[in-house]
Amino acid sequence: MDQTQLKQQVAKAALAYVPDDAIVGVGSGSTVNCFIDALATIKGRIDGAVAASEASAQRLRDHGIRVFDLNGVSELPVYVDGADEITEHLHMIKGGGGALTREKIIAAVAKKFICICDASKLVPILGRFPLPLEVIPMARSYVGRRLVAMGGTPALREGFTSDNGNLILDCRGLDLRDPPTLEGELNQIAGVVTNGVFARRRADVLLLATAEGVSTRLAKS
Ligand code: A5P
Repeated sequence: MDQTQLKQQVAKAALAYVPDDAIVGVGSGSTVNCFIDALATIKGRIDGAVAASEASAQRLRDHGIRVFDLNGVSELPVYVDGADEITEHLHMIKGGGGALTREKIIAAVAKKFICICDASKLVPILGRFPLPLEVIPMARSYVGRRLVAMGGTPALREGFTSDNGNLILDCRGLDLRDPPTLEGELNQIAGVVTNGVFARRRADVLLLATAEGVSTRLAKS
């Protein structure tokens, strides 16, 4: 089974978590694109979706799925998104596609966060994938210096502007052994909009695609 087939398999498995008549939270990335395509096969039994990126919103609309503004939605039973890395504790690094801020907002609203990944994303400890931070443009240098002082090596994502009009710094070398603490510390740096550690609001369920099928893991306490 190739990577695309694994993504399609796990995306289809996530449909089991979508209740009837729901507005579904939809993340972004290539695995989520497979989920959007799968969602289109059951579009008659949902009300619509809220999307974490303009690209996801467009793909949903292309399938004839109604896209809602989050401000008009009082509850989201489920949010389905991928990850760049995830641990057994269901702590994640996200933001490889630069949509981390909207992803974190929708994850905060949702009752249940279903993470869909292939097995290559499951890691014992976060940090091999460079940590994305969304940064207000005028704070780029200041945030960079603060990250260096914390032991990190930040790099500007060249030629990229987020859907919110901001920059992304991808940072290697930070100590990610305590993800919830680091997540909080990074958010205290003036000019950081969001960082890509998703630990304070981690996933509730991980659906992991393997050649042997989809395995389900629940968050360990
Ligand atoms: C987007 O900003 C990310 O958080 C994605 O969820 C993450 O990069 C996973 O993307 P893929 O499914 O393309 O690997």
